[in-house]
Amino acid sequence: MHPSHLEDFYSFLRFPSVSTDTQFAHHVRDCAQWVAQKLKAVGLESEVVATKGHPIVWARNQHQPGRRTILIYGHYDVQPPDPLELWDSPPFEPVLKDGYVFARGATDNKGQILAHILGIQETIEQDGDLPVNLHLVIEGEEEIGSIHLGSFLEKNRDALKSHVAVISDTGMIAPRTPTLSYGLRGVTALEIKVTGPKMDLHSGIFGGAVANPITALAQLLATLHDREDRVAIAGFYDRVKPIEEWEREAWRKLPVDGDKLILEETGVPALFGEAGYNSLERIWARPTAEINGIGGGYQGQGTKTVIASHAMAKLTFRLVPEQEGDEILKLAKTHLRKNLPKGVTLEMTDGHSGPWYLTDPHSQIGESAQRALRKAFNADAALIREGGSIPIVSQFRSILGIETLLMGLALPDCRAHSPNENFPLENLEGGIRMNKAILQELAH
Ligand code: BES
Ligand code: MN
Repeated sequence: MHPSHLEDFYSFLRFPSVSTDTQFAHHVRDCAQWVAQKLKAVGLESEVVATKGHPIVWARNQHQPGRRTILIYGHYDVQPPDPLELWDSPPFEPVLKDGYVFARGATDNKGQILAHILGIQETIEQDGDLPVNLHLVIEGEEEIGSIHLGSFLEKNRDALKSHVAVISDTGMIAPRTPTLSYGLRGVTALEIKVTGPKMDLHSGIFGGAVANPITALAQLLATLHDREDRVAIAGFYDRVKPIEEWEREAWRKLPVDGDKLILEETGVPALFGEAGYNSLERIWARPTAEINGIGGGYQGQGTKTVIASHAMAKLTFRLVPEQEGDEILKLAKTHLRKNLPKGVTLEMTDGHSGPWYLTDPHSQIGESAQRALRKAFNADAALIREGGSIPIVSQFRSILGIETLLMGLALPDCRAHSPNENFPLENLEGGIRMNKAILQELAH
């Protein structure tokens, strides 16, 4: 690989562009500026578009009549690096070890979007131009639900008119196994707060006579699942589209053993999940209710004999076709209100929400993507769905009227959102080849 490519990767990774925490806002802004500058240096027109939140980088080449227009999307924001003590090296000081670059964002999504940028750079260097009209939209709020991207799309609907969107922000099922994802789960978030006494109390003086909000929260959260690991919210599964028989069969033939992979990669002592499904089916095509965070009471050293005034939890629900986020939230809130133990009160606040996505991997553009993947990786593409969410994809469909090709480069052990996130240089190189191939394939 060209040494300047590696330098670019490191520079990009050094910005702590954590979107969820306002303390990092100036780093997020600096990172956007860097991306815009890089795209200018590549030979594109680029601008940093301000929003009420983090800015969007929008770049394009000189459009020529008669050429197809392709929209490439990615994000430069990252998840928080916590817990810091679990990293082998500091999260914003990238290091190369055995062909893997370690840093927060290495996979999700800086390595993957950089592969596109460098592919574009190499094509322009070699051919003087791209074979297509290009829009690049690289946002800074993907990890917090793409809050302001929808209105950007609406405002620039005409200017952004494109044939198809291309995104590398999904998985590759195994090394050197090109992967086309034709589905994503949706996600919808809910924060809950359980309040008991008006202040923290001495647990000896009051304990036993007032409800403990942490106990109440634990009891409440435990009602979310039944004994078969199914979500116990009434109506939760009503709209869920069953997995197609052809999908089940195709997924069984994939060159990965999902159950084994999950045991190995996560270190859990046993598999978990809804009866009647294997791990890949559970992740790709079944909905979930997850508790992402929980808090309350004394968390410092030693003990404190206290009954906390309140306890809180952060929940998200992963949604599958044909579930609707608003409806699921309503059902969940009804369930939580109904199951609230006595002696406490409940407050609930809706969080971000993004729909699922499902498209046809055998459409004309799907076939183009499969050819490009074969060309770049010398192997047939695996066709899969994904458990993760990219909320904007359904808005590309509803606002811009286009389908999205999800051509991911993240390996199962890349540790996105986890400590020691990493990206193999092999995939950066493969991603550069993939970018060149997909632009060629989509040109006609
Ligand atoms: N790249 C992921 C989405 C993803 C992960 C797709 C794995 C397919 C497989 C993306 O950056 C992400 O993490 N999205 C968030 C969205 C949420 C915060 C609205 C997610 O899925 O949790
Ligand atoms: Mn992510």
